Amino acid sequence: MKKRMTANRQTESSETHTRLDFPQPGIARLTLDHAERSVNILSRDVLEEVEAHLLSLEKRDDIQGLVIASGKPGSFIAGADLTEFAASLDEPADVIQNVSRRGQDLFRRLSAAPYVTIATIDGICVGGGAELAVWCDRRIVTSNSKTQIGFPEVKLGLFPGWGGTARTPRIIGLANAVELVTGGESMSGKAAFEMGLADDLIDVGDDAENTASTANNALLEAALRMIEADQKSGDFLANRQRWAEPIAMSETELAFLGATAVAVIQQATKGKYPAPVAALELMLEASMGDLDAACQMETEQFVPLFGSPINRALLNVFFLQDRNKKKDGGSGKGQAKAASVGVIGAGTMGLGIAAVSLRRGLKVTISDNRAEALASGEQQVLKEAAFDRDLKGPNLDKVLELSPGLNTTIQARPLATCDLVIEAIVENADIKKELFGEIEPHAQGTTVLCSNTSTIPITKLAEGLKRPDRFCGLHFFNPVRKMPLVEVIRGKKTSDDTIARATSLARQLGKTPVVVKDGPGFLVNRLLLPYMNEAAVLLGEGVPIDQIEKAAKSFGMPMGPIELHDVVGLDVCLHAGKVMQEAFSNRVVPTPIVDQLVEAGRLGQKNGLGFYDWKTDKKGRSKKSPSDDVQKIIAKLATPSSTSHDLTDRLILPMLVEATRAMQDGIAGDVRDVDLALIYGIGFPPFLGGLFYWADQIGAATIVEKLEGLRSLGKRYEPTKMLLEKAKNGTQFYDN
Ligand code: NAI
Repeated sequence: MKKRMTANRQTESSETHTRLDFPQPGIARLTLDHAERSVNILSRDVLEEVEAHLLSLEKRDDIQGLVIASGKPGSFIAGADLTEFAASLDEPADVIQNVSRRGQDLFRRLSAAPYVTIATIDGICVGGGAELAVWCDRRIVTSNSKTQIGFPEVKLGLFPGWGGTARTPRIIGLANAVELVTGGESMSGKAAFEMGLADDLIDVGDDAENTASTANNALLEAALRMIEADQKSGDFLANRQRWAEPIAMSETELAFLGATAVAVIQQATKGKYPAPVAALELMLEASMGDLDAACQMETEQFVPLFGSPINRALLNVFFLQDRNKKKDGGSGKGQAKAASVGVIGAGTMGLGIAAVSLRRGLKVTISDNRAEALASGEQQVLKEAAFDRDLKGPNLDKVLELSPGLNTTIQARPLATCDLVIEAIVENADIKKELFGEIEPHAQGTTVLCSNTSTIPITKLAEGLKRPDRFCGLHFFNPVRKMPLVEVIRGKKTSDDTIARATSLARQLGKTPVVVKDGPGFLVNRLLLPYMNEAAVLLGEGVPIDQIEKAAKSFGMPMGPIELHDVVGLDVCLHAGKVMQEAFSNRVVPTPIVDQLVEAGRLGQKNGLGFYDWKTDKKGRSKKSPSDDVQKIIAKLATPSSTSHDLTDRLILPMLVEATRAMQDGIAGDVRDVDLALIYGIGFPPFLGGLFYWADQIGAATIVEKLEGLRSLGKRYEPTKMLLEKAKNGTQFYDN
């Protein structure tokens, strides 16, 4: 068994997306290497090839083991082919059942093979890929940070339909499997090993030049050892028998698991996503039957979720992301990667941007005119950049590895040699302009200067520059490590090359860039403001805070607009509101409430006093409670009126109307960019598919009708040309 692995290698057959070879006598290796994709996906043709290989191997009696590997460096299998799923959304139930049953049948063939089957996993292994892996006898994973195993199907409004819900609990226990399937989160190779989902963990280090081939060789070595051991002990056959049985749990244990899991799901989904509960119910019930019965139940219960409105909306979100990733032309695709970033301003945003950049392997220099901000900022950046999910804190080896890549300087000038410089200092146009004026003369020809401003027009900031074409907005959202969106803002004179470099950097940082035209509030804040403004207007009409919050949350927003004021900071809201009021005076309604609260020293969550009172609990979490003082201020300012309007319409429709105006003004190039930007920038509910996608489900004519009923409230409810046209022609925003 331990012959050199390169010896005696002969290829039996070669197909389009897969290769079967024999690294040693008696050992088959099936390598998945999708011909048209950068990652492996289990499209129909790939599955057919896998099936053909399994059939050919079954006919032989000399095979001891089959190793399943990936030909894509650092990536195993990214799941099923969702374009195929999307194409079958309208199919009848029996066809959908067949999609599930065919996958199960194929994988079942794998699990009944007359030899040991081992999935060797380096890199992403999710969805259908994870299902294939759990149908193997064994799984070996690498410790590489790219290795992620999980079942994200619930995020698409589904659950695993190729036997994942049946097979996984039999390997790792029902409680672990429920957590994995209903939570939809992936876990690292190390976590999978500790949980028992993987049988071996191979330490191949991270980021080494030759990690992929090192990993593949190490995985194969480990698989050969495992096959030999399993053939000797027969353990794999015992496992097969055990995993075919019902799961041994008492009714009390099942009831307890069900109750705790429902509570966790409810907390995470607020009752808006049915798939996790459906998965839980299925897994609890199916645990009592054998594996065959569990597979049958999975197939049957998969059908009602497939093609449901929520499944369609979530698939839309997936395709919005996919479209964004594939976009070319000014998208940064094909752009050489940046090696260094300069960040000016060691505050909330600057430190967040620096940490993400350092974590992603860029050389980072931070500048601030306060030495103390630099000293504490440097530590904070290192800690955040070296954060390890498994350790729930910084990894000290990583801190040592990253620290030579981080520099600080009081002077901003040295940053001019970086590939990109991102300014995140105080929100003041004159100070920002002065700073850029100081750096620009020292910048290299290719250096791109960016501002993270949230309100100042990019074209205005570029006014004093000699090369305004090398300048753009790069607007991150707070907190940077969590928020996936970056608006790339094109000023009047910004060049395509600058946009491409800035967009490419955002991608390099793992963010989702959306390119928008310069204009007040750019895209996201322009659309967020009408929603927040309306909340303040409603307070002025005497609507209680909790009713406003409830209306937004029942629509699906992650938090109410009043709480959002506190999280953003009331001073920041006040400033942004004034900017928008100046720009759009005909539709932004002046409301004195935020002014008065700021005047009373209430700045929001950051100083413990906003619309709510904020306290930190024992676990360090910020907790809010209603404030009597604020009630008094509101009572003084409010003029109660008996509004009979639907509060959700009041809050959401001004955002939609403004979005159509932003489209008309050319701020965004496509409604899909708006939808993605709002989901990623403000947490617009993914289960609604996006603002314009949601509007399409309701229909422009119905929306115009609703707006007519609200029109007396002001221009913010006036249907725009775009809406009227869609309503008249019966067309959809997504039609183009
Ligand atoms: P901050 O107040 O936390 O940090 C600003 C930092 O800049 C401070 O450390 C300060 O010492 C430094 N600074 C000020 N003037 C300077 C100068 N002339 N030279 C060098 N350093 C200087 O501010 P924050 O919140 O990080 O905001 C920075 C920028 O990002 C602003 O333009 C803001 O509008 C924008 N922004 C803020 C967001 C937020 O949620 N905080 C979100 C998106 C954008």
